[in-house]
Amino acid sequence: MTKAAKLGHNMTGAQMSPDDTQSMVDYTERRPADVPGDAQELKRAREHMNREEGDIGSVPIPGSAKGMLKTTFDKVLGNNPEVLVDKLGERLAYERTGVRLYEALIAKAQACESGGAELVPTLQQIRNDEQAHMFLLINAIETLGADPTAMTPGADVIGVLGSGPLKVITDPRTNMAQALNAILTIELADNAAWELLIKLAEQSGHPKIARSFDGALVEEERHVNTIRSLLTRELGLSNP
Ligand SMILES: [Fe+2]
Repeated sequence: MTKAAKLGHNMTGAQMSPDDTQSMVDYTERRPADVPGDAQELKRAREHMNREEGDIGSVPIPGSAKGMLKTTFDKVLGNNPEVLVDKLGERLAYERTGVRLYEALIAKAQACESGGAELVPTLQQIRNDEQAHMFLLINAIETLGADPTAMTPGADVIGVLGSGPLKVITDPRTNMAQALNAILTIELADNAAWELLIKLAEQSGHPKIARSFDGALVEEERHVNTIRSLLTRELGLSNP
């Protein structure tokens, strides 16, 4: 596996075969698409389905007496405990996926022809941070008397959202720069989400949970900077 993209026999662009490209354009004029409807019809169908379809899952009712008490107490205070539990579940799913993504990235780095092995200690450190964040979230969910094993709607959606970078990183043909680009997308989103989660915990009346996340946010900011500089180096650019 190479570290960066290289020149090869890529024939996908129109520049490579102008005559064939013209034949293709002529053919589409002779045989237009036979799919019924148009863009407006598609938009109407989407609107209709958005109105008609139900939600993606639900936040489970706490299965413990402690959870019931805490939820009732939060409700009396005018808070929405289910929003916090949903977002905690979402972050837990994301951090768990993060551990797997870094493990795949480490395997890719080790397979690199040159220079990959030196990335491994840094990637391993971030992988360990993501795992520690996972346990931090499990602890916070349990503090609220909720169930950390439940998949909340947010956890479900974030799993779908993360599936693109996961496909890029686990594809054995992608090079290190392409995989680092994918993990940068993950880290940027992770960073913004931790900020939001801390704000949510504070405004939901759980300052202790919010403070327990401060260290994780600092580490996530470091992850973004580290991955950005690794990618910069991988692309042959100089770091500022
Ligand atoms: Fe991270």
